[in-house]
Amino acid sequence: MGSLEIGSRLDACLAAAVAADPTLSDVAKVIAACATAAIEVSTVIGRGALAGDLAAQGAQNSDGDVQKFLDVLAHERFTEALRGAPVSEVASEESEGVMLLNPGAPLAVAIDPLDGSSNIGVNMAVGSIFGIWPTASTPENPLGSFTGPGTLQRAAGFVTYGPATSLVLTLGHGTQTYTLDRAEGAFRLTHPRMEVVAAAKEYAINASNARHWDTPVKAYIEDCLRGAEGPLDKDFNMRWLGSLVSDAQRVLLRGGVFLYPGDNRKGYAQGRLRLLYEAAPIAFLMEQAGAGAIDGERRILDICASAIHERVPLIFGSADEVACVAKYYGGRNPAAGRSPLFGQRGLMRG
Ligand code: AHG
Ligand code: MN
Ligand code: MN
Repeated sequence: MGSLEIGSRLDACLAAAVAADPTLSDVAKVIAACATAAIEVSTVIGRGALAGDLAAQGAQNSDGDVQKFLDVLAHERFTEALRGAPVSEVASEESEGVMLLNPGAPLAVAIDPLDGSSNIGVNMAVGSIFGIWPTASTPENPLGSFTGPGTLQRAAGFVTYGPATSLVLTLGHGTQTYTLDRAEGAFRLTHPRMEVVAAAKEYAINASNARHWDTPVKAYIEDCLRGAEGPLDKDFNMRWLGSLVSDAQRVLLRGGVFLYPGDNRKGYAQGRLRLLYEAAPIAFLMEQAGAGAIDGERRILDICASAIHERVPLIFGSADEVACVAKYYGGRNPAAGRSPLFGQRGLMRG
């Protein structure tokens, strides 16, 4: 995105990106629409209980999650904003199938309108995640815009509605972070080039699932817990924020590794996170910041979705640590059964 000044407004940064690469013109319009929706959602979230019961439960979505009031509100605000942008269709966590917006428009959007929904009712950080793809659907192949590898994404971003509201964004030229200037109602550039440190000292995983994990994950976390006395030769701290965007933002800012692996629970063989509107955008943002993102054996951005709510195991973060975790997997697909090779302790030095 060139050498933009810290404090520059998002619209000026997008204009500079388009001036440098005119093929980004429509992408910039879609990002501006997402930013508009994000500011609206941020305003509602910022009112907390004064805005009503944002965690009020409604129907189930197609992934079996009970929708909360804010899930639906965010879905509606983003979808409405995207209807006014050059977007042909939207694949949203909160809609069963692909939603057609503007037939013939050049771009398609995959979106998690509200990530970390379980945090809504307890005033903890939540977010929104989006990936922007070239339109490729046809009447014969209605999912066509979303079934290629994640490397086809033109841009990706996530918003964190935390103490500050921030937009982490990539257009394929590095990863930047913008922070909402509430007085002005506009995002301003605060981190022109995010770079993730290669070594991790922090891991994020929901440890309550330990008994369900596959052997490689058990071995890796066991070695993290052994700290400097174990084969990884260093002590680790642990965090688990219950919202992917919050863990991702921490990893971007201070390194670390995040794991939501597949496990033995019913319906969790491929973990909990969805490839299209969670793993693929996060993977794009991480790789553009020099970090890694895999499913245990494959690069996330090489994986093609065959359904819009398809799940995938997700491991991302500091490049050296992701490579270390991949060694524990040893190129195996854990769902294909256990390997006695992993035995009682980690096999690999970090
Ligand atoms: P969503 O609210 O969009 O369904 O996403 C929640 C995801 C992700 O944000 C978070 O990392 C993960 O679910 C937490 O899962 P557990 O509740 O199983 O820990
Ligand atoms: Mn989510
Ligand atoms: Mn969600």
